[in-house]
Amino acid sequence: MKLENNRYNIQGVDIEELCQEYGTSLYVYDAEKISHQVNSMRKAFKGLEMRIKFAMKALSNVSILKLMNKLGTGLDVVSIQEAHIGLRAGFDPNDILYSPNSVSFNEIQEAVQLGLRINIDNISILEQFGHEYHNTVPCCIRINPHIMAGGHTNISTGHIDSKFGISILQMRHLLRVIKTNNIHVEGLHMHTGSDILDAEVFIQGANILFDAAREFENLKYIDFGSGFKVAYRDGDVTTDINALGKRLSKSFSNFCAEYGQELEIWFEPGKYLVSEAGFLFAKANVIKTTPATVFVGVDSGMNHLIRPMMYNSYHDMLNISNPNGTFRVYSVVGYICETDTLGSDRKLNEVREGDIIGIKNAGAYAFSMSSNYNSRLRPAEILILDGQAKLIRKRETMDDIFRNMVEIEL
Ligand code: LLP
Repeated sequence: MKLENNRYNIQGVDIEELCQEYGTSLYVYDAEKISHQVNSMRKAFKGLEMRIKFAMKALSNVSILKLMNKLGTGLDVVSIQEAHIGLRAGFDPNDILYSPNSVSFNEIQEAVQLGLRINIDNISILEQFGHEYHNTVPCCIRINPHIMAGGHTNISTGHIDSKFGISILQMRHLLRVIKTNNIHVEGLHMHTGSDILDAEVFIQGANILFDAAREFENLKYIDFGSGFKVAYRDGDVTTDINALGKRLSKSFSNFCAEYGQELEIWFEPGKYLVSEAGFLFAKANVIKTTPATVFVGVDSGMNHLIRPMMYNSYHDMLNISNPNGTFRVYSVVGYICETDTLGSDRKLNEVREGDIIGIKNAGAYAFSMSSNYNSRLRPAEILILDGQAKLIRKRETMDDIFRNMVEIEL
């Protein structure tokens, strides 16, 4: 988003006009930024057979997936429903990795029928898989390397107390099950968490996976998951993808030389591809001065962006409507009837009732974690593509709220 002639725009599309046309609150995504992120990953790992599997749980609109497909990524899906959206978007099932947790074996069978690549994170499921398919359907194994990483305990997945993956300490048991059932393992996978500050974690995890990989003869790929840290404010520490690319490429190439085969290296970025590409624009309904603070109450809230209340995460904000106003300190809150803080103690250009507030990093886990709490409607979603605003989801109406309610006679 740029400020030009005192007006904010994305690819030349004026934000205030956009908000007027589609109403607030409104999610807006910048396709150029998404494409930039895909390319920067490719650049960082050039020279390797690198595959990007977009973690669509971050942003699952079918039009975003069509864009990803056009940009040449694959998909990481965690449910059969996500897989169906991906297939609708035109992905080849072979380019979709299905990595569920705690699902029944029936769902795995459904995924096999759809032709997805299967990632298994549980020995009991692996046994059922082996019993049913033997070596006729290849699979990937999700290893839990026992590394504590991630920006918040709720988004750390690779530690010893986590429900994810098959423990690296269970390797002997795992190999017994694979051998006995003649299972064809084509990939190894790990994902240790999200918002990982220390890039060393990836290197540490990679070394653990290389050690494990030596036990498997028919590997095609190793999937290092994701967790790349993006910027939530100016000057934030982020994953230096180029530095990581250099280090990991070297150790990956060395491993492939030793393994005797050029394997593919896979990543499953969610936030890295879409977090900074998205904004949530909301209107200041009210300004309320209390003895303690000045609240800006906007026409949005934790029902549209739950991350601040759920993970204590920081989302930068700006006043789109008054870029030259005097800076004042505000707490920006939503309209949900419980504590619903989007950001406290924020320095914003003076906010007047009716101004548009832009909330950053709303591309990942914003719409996809939204709800109808308080029976509020979900906003529309807009994709800015080639300098034009495309509506990719309509604003909800009361019909959506009533759709599955069954009114009984009383
Ligand atoms: N691969 C797997 C197996 C995952 O579980 C996840 C995220 C990803 C890839 C993508 O991670 P990312 O690149 O987005 O860090 N709702 C939380 C994040 C939950 C992440 C869950 N798994 C948040 O808003 O911070």
